[in-house]
Amino acid sequence: MQRKFCLILLYFIISLQFAIADEGMWIPLFLEKYNIEEMHKKGFKLSAKDIYDVNQASLKDAVMIFGGGCTGELISGKGLILTNYHCGYGSIQRHSSIEHDYLTDGFWAMSQTEELPNPGLTITFLKYLQDVTTRVSAVYTEDMPIAIRQQKIDSVSKIIEQEAIKKSDGKYTAKVESFFYGNQYILIVSQIFKDVRLVGAPPSAIGKFGGDTDNWVWPRHTGDFSIFRVYANKNNEPANYSPDNVPYKPKKFFPINISGVHENDFTMIFGYPGYTQEYIPSFLVDNIINLVNPLRINVRQEKLDIINQAMNQDKKIRIQYSAKQAGIANGWKKWIGQNQGLNRLNILKEKQNFEQKFQQWADNQNNNRYKNLLNDYKKISKDIRPYEKAYYFFIETVYYSDLWKIYKKTIKQLSKIDELSDPNKIDSIKTIIIKNSDNFFEDYNHNIDKKIFKTTMKLYFKNVDEKFLPNFFYIIQNKYNGSIDNFIDSVYETSIFTDQQRLTDFIKNYHNNNKKYKKTHKNVKYTKFDIANDLVTIIIDDFISEYNYDILPSYSNLSDKIDSLNHLYMQAQMKMQPDKIFYPDANFTLRVAYGKVKGFRPRDGLIYDYYTTLDGVIEKDNPNIYDYNVPKKLKELYKNKDFGRYADKQDGKIHTCFIGDNHTTGGNSGSPVINANGELIGVNFDRCWESTMSDIKFDPNYCRNIMLDIRYVLFIIDKYAGAGYLIDEMEIIE
Ligand code: ARG
Ligand code: GLU
Repeated sequence: MQRKFCLILLYFIISLQFAIADEGMWIPLFLEKYNIEEMHKKGFKLSAKDIYDVNQASLKDAVMIFGGGCTGELISGKGLILTNYHCGYGSIQRHSSIEHDYLTDGFWAMSQTEELPNPGLTITFLKYLQDVTTRVSAVYTEDMPIAIRQQKIDSVSKIIEQEAIKKSDGKYTAKVESFFYGNQYILIVSQIFKDVRLVGAPPSAIGKFGGDTDNWVWPRHTGDFSIFRVYANKNNEPANYSPDNVPYKPKKFFPINISGVHENDFTMIFGYPGYTQEYIPSFLVDNIINLVNPLRINVRQEKLDIINQAMNQDKKIRIQYSAKQAGIANGWKKWIGQNQGLNRLNILKEKQNFEQKFQQWADNQNNNRYKNLLNDYKKISKDIRPYEKAYYFFIETVYYSDLWKIYKKTIKQLSKIDELSDPNKIDSIKTIIIKNSDNFFEDYNHNIDKKIFKTTMKLYFKNVDEKFLPNFFYIIQNKYNGSIDNFIDSVYETSIFTDQQRLTDFIKNYHNNNKKYKKTHKNVKYTKFDIANDLVTIIIDDFISEYNYDILPSYSNLSDKIDSLNHLYMQAQMKMQPDKIFYPDANFTLRVAYGKVKGFRPRDGLIYDYYTTLDGVIEKDNPNIYDYNVPKKLKELYKNKDFGRYADKQDGKIHTCFIGDNHTTGGNSGSPVINANGELIGVNFDRCWESTMSDIKFDPNYCRNIMLDIRYVLFIIDKYAGAGYLIDEMEIIE
């Protein structure tokens, strides 16, 4: 009897633990209400206000959006920023050339004057959040047609945003964001800084160690960090780049704790998760698993086969294509892992079981709209498939192509010329186009691009329904005997968009029938007409009309319907489970995830430890493979055990990475990993492959985020790069 009672109690304790699994990305505004108690139970020692407060400095003041899709954090009183290597990668690459190969060799400013400016790179701080749901939902009713409802929401949002901007004297930006599919609205007020300089980056053999082979994989040894600094004007306010700017003095920055990370330690990830879909029904998940993911994996696989081979053979191409390749490979590998994880969890079955219960519940409700929800989903998710397929093929093959990029950029500027008559203004736009083109062609290889375009066009023509074929398909049939290869050969032989010289000549000789211009520029000979006959123009214009007339109208119409179903389904799920605390899907707004440092069992008979060390870097060393070619200096430091104060106090080793069960996703890259006292112990940079389904379904047994141990970061800065002056700026807790 006694034993049985114990067993029941044990069962209770275990299931209770599952009930409070570390799932969730929480809104900082509501931590007091929903999370702080549980966070304290897990070991957190600070208050909700220490994390997010409007009146006092709080941790949120040290966290930022870095660039367009990453997170970063302040680590000194002089605006020093820590983020991932892969988040700073574009900037590092842009400063690199064969002579200054910062990708291979790393870059370190040894004083503030050596830091490198990055035009276009911004960082964004959150100033405050405000729940405006009552005000927004007052302007619409649930039975309004979706388009009208959206219009009303947009216009009241605009008013709320304008008020907030005015209140800040125009210093802040404001955006009303939808949470829970339009069941909650929050005003987000932010401040953007524009002078952000590169301070330091390790060589890619550290920052991207293991490359795409190790990407998304544990055990991991990547030193995925880079250092920037944000500058402000003399009043400590945002300003465009100027040599007169001074380092920004923040209200708050993270102290760094180097005393070591242990299993079951509390961790909190504070950053900007981008996109998750935890509450969608089985029908939509089915489309992801069986249509969208395989399609995107397939197109990218073919592109990667071409790019990888070329990169392995040519050093120049390696630099030119490094950032493009990393972007393509990253999604490709994630979706492979995601599909494996979703299938392992048997997610469709699980969702279907829930849907059965949901239907029973809905049938007993007064609200008729809930009753038909699942049937509507079922029908629409089927109707949308051909359009979804065409849409993603268009995105992956055309929209993500280099031709599209250079064409769009050039045409946008050219159309400005067409409206001008002042020869000086025309010339200055020409200079911009030529500069854009120089930048573009620096990272472009004619033959590789041609190969990619041939391959992806064949995939498009083979896979997409005939009704979605662009018009030039008939040119290929009639003029090129149906040979896509021959057609694309002529495209690349003739188009101004596939050759730097041709494009430059064309722009220099372009006029818009403007007499004054022709008088001053005697030899100009090209006009709009010549552009219209360019084969790239024909391809892209045909694709755009195909997209605009045959794909997009139905696709967005059906997507809108899905949106309004999502709105209702979310609402209904919350009504059905009134005691459950829901967190909203990620939408690239600031969130808190918390959990513990923890290993896991990815497969039967295999246990993953929670940390890795420099030993593993040395084990993986292979001078013949670019991604595993450990720098000599690092090997020396290792051999001499020259670890300074950064070695682990217990085992004397340099710890490189660790994992935990925090719920994160893309956008959380670069997020601070915070300990129970609010100090920095790491930087988030990835998830395990077995975890990537957490964007749709979080499983506490398999979901682990991958973090860089802060001691490895400091070790590289101090011992490897010899940039100890940066460490002196920081506040280190031993
Ligand atoms: N998987 C990480 C993220 O999603 C890192 C990507 C960059 N690294 C790479 N080898 N492509 O962004
Ligand atoms: N590397 C990802 C990023 O850039 C984070 C990994 C993930 O998706 O969790 O945000």
